[in-house]
Amino acid sequence: MTVFTPGKLLLFGEHAAVFGFPAVGMALSRGLTATLSVPKNSNVAAGDLTIEINNAKAISESMIAQFIAHIKAVAVSYDLPPLVGTLHVTSELPIGSGFGSSAALCTAIARLLAPDSNEVRRTWRIAHELERFFHGTPSGIDTGLTTLGGAQAFRFDNTISDGHHLPTTVAVQLPDCVLTVGSIPRERSTKALVAHVGERRRADPRGVESLLARLGALGKTILPGGGAADRSDATTESNVAAFGKAATDAQAILRELGVSTPQLDEILREGKAAGALGGKLSGAGGGGAFYLVSADEEGSLRVRRAIDPIVADAGGIVFPLATLRR
Ligand code: PMV
Repeated sequence: MTVFTPGKLLLFGEHAAVFGFPAVGMALSRGLTATLSVPKNSNVAAGDLTIEINNAKAISESMIAQFIAHIKAVAVSYDLPPLVGTLHVTSELPIGSGFGSSAALCTAIARLLAPDSNEVRRTWRIAHELERFFHGTPSGIDTGLTTLGGAQAFRFDNTISDGHHLPTTVAVQLPDCVLTVGSIPRERSTKALVAHVGERRRADPRGVESLLARLGALGKTILPGGGAADRSDATTESNVAAFGKAATDAQAILRELGVSTPQLDEILREGKAAGALGGKLSGAGGGGAFYLVSADEEGSLRVRRAIDPIVADAGGIVFPLATLRR
């Protein structure tokens, strides 16, 4: 059985979501393909699973063994039969860069564990439990995007709890624009970056809470009725300009929280100097993914030409255009 799951790009609300503030993101067209093969007459012992990942130099054998143990435990807790065989994973996503490679893997495994489940929230819950292995205390937004697909706004409503504290979601339409999307290698893991923000919050509860609330609120700028999308009196240009400005404002807060890096700041600065309407890191930061907003493909190509050498120098990549046009 083969499944494809998309990667994701967080547009607003990373780190804020961990503390219950809203977030917005979208699934990417590139993602990960996982094929479970159970060869007949194989010497795979009953109950055994092996995982082979195409571009996973960063993932050690012992980490894969621990993850397999975690998959088994999650299967038991959901009363599901164990996965048996060899799982071949081919990823088009840079691993551990903020494009949701681990979330996509967890969603793929959740689909393989419960292939008959047509209840998407159940698949999301299983993926979320699997994701704990990589993130410790995931908010659920990454696996939400890789499970649901499309563009989604997330809200953590305490009155609606399914026992897993997953957020509620609304599919959203994003402003017409083109994003220049890329990533550079990460200096710190998501787990470490989330812990860093947690420490900052313990040291300065009021200050950091207000930064996180502002980060969460900025996502509303691109939601229907929020200022940048779906407003009958708003032109496409003003929608996209508001999106870009909100991204730049969010980046300033993420920098203040200590999760940006000088290299990310430089890429975003050069992108804006080349005409981007704004931009920010995407995901946990410490390097990793970023995006810059342009009104059209021509603008995005100018941005790309400006940042390509800096990104390449840092050992990163810029993706082909991500057009949000409907
Ligand atoms: O690992 P990343 O880069 O996809 O970041 C996850 C987003 C965070 O908000 C930092 C963590 C979370 O679980 O929401």
